[in-house]
Amino acid sequence: MWSEADKTGAEPGDRRSMAVLVDEALGYVFSAALRAVAAVGVADKLAGGPRTVAELAAQTGVHEGSLHRVLRLVATRGVVEELDDGRFRLTELGQALRSDVPLSARPAVLMLTDHTLWLPSGEMERCLREGGSVFGGIFGMPFFDYVAQDEQTATAFHDGMASFSDAENRPIAAAYDFPELGVVVDVGGGQGGFLLEVLRRRPRLDGVLFDEAHAVAGHRLAADEVKGRWQAVAGDFFAEVPRGDVYLLKRILHDWDDEQCVTILRNCRRAMAPGGRILVVDAVVPRGNAPHQAKTLDLLLMSALVGKERTEADFARLFAAAGLRLSRTIPTDTMLSIAEAEPEP
Ligand SMILES: C[S@@+](CC[C@H](N)C(=O)[O-])C[C@H]1O[C@@H](n2cnc3c(N)ncnc32)[C@H](O)[C@@H]1O
Repeated sequence: MWSEADKTGAEPGDRRSMAVLVDEALGYVFSAALRAVAAVGVADKLAGGPRTVAELAAQTGVHEGSLHRVLRLVATRGVVEELDDGRFRLTELGQALRSDVPLSARPAVLMLTDHTLWLPSGEMERCLREGGSVFGGIFGMPFFDYVAQDEQTATAFHDGMASFSDAENRPIAAAYDFPELGVVVDVGGGQGGFLLEVLRRRPRLDGVLFDEAHAVAGHRLAADEVKGRWQAVAGDFFAEVPRGDVYLLKRILHDWDDEQCVTILRNCRRAMAPGGRILVVDAVVPRGNAPHQAKTLDLLLMSALVGKERTEADFARLFAAAGLRLSRTIPTDTMLSIAEAEPEP
């Protein structure tokens, strides 16, 4: 009797491993299909109910045969569902791809699969061999310079960031006991979604949204409930930041190397009123092998930017180098934690 190994030269377990690794290697094709579906706006066309592929192709102006093949793959992970009559419908998960729902994931999907992140992650082997970011080699300049030089790229980035952040802003704002009075400065605050949540919770607090001009131009602080309590200031956090009592650095330090982080932190410390605080809102990478989104985002930060996701000990070291001390780390109901820093006496 021939054993499995005799016939093929491989144990059955090896073939299973082979199949698993081949599936893993093909994972990027799903991301590409999800991007394609998001980009042409299929979910919006399915909002009113199931449609045939011919109808969807006509409404989105794309190739019918190709759309069917893309939808067939996207259906395997429950974003859409193919019905027995051949029409496709949007699942509950897929509703989040619509552009008109409150927590739309569409801008985030488009930002995370944009060529500015996609191409560098495809060159990850070069990051391993040479160390550091490959963005400059591909695009000829650093990430944020590239974002700033083209209005369409800037809009896609800031809309994507805002969509990415929308789901986390409220639980993070709820996790910290903000003072009743004073000025909160959201450093690199993008379109101001997080600052808006903080100001909503504290009706006597004032806020400053501080970011590059192309980001603050698209601010979302025009809500009546915060009227007269905020300013939008364009500037460079490597040069100086506005005066305030509480500094928010949400998803900022992870974009930069240690030396650059210390410069940003020192600038906040210098501008801070006595008794002030800095709240670094970033992932704190856990030890061990369990999956964590920060471990994936970390590789985008490695290949496209010059930053990284950090551990609690990393934050404590950065703070010490900037004349600050880590007073506490507060978990939130999101993947991010709040590392609170206060000036060393
Ligand atoms: C990853 S985004 C985070 C945005 C926002 N805090 C959030 O959590 O959604 C980084 C932000 O830093 C801003 N930024 C990058 N370089 C900057 C600089 N030199 N000065 C001020 N803002 C900068 C970007 O425009 C962007 O809005």
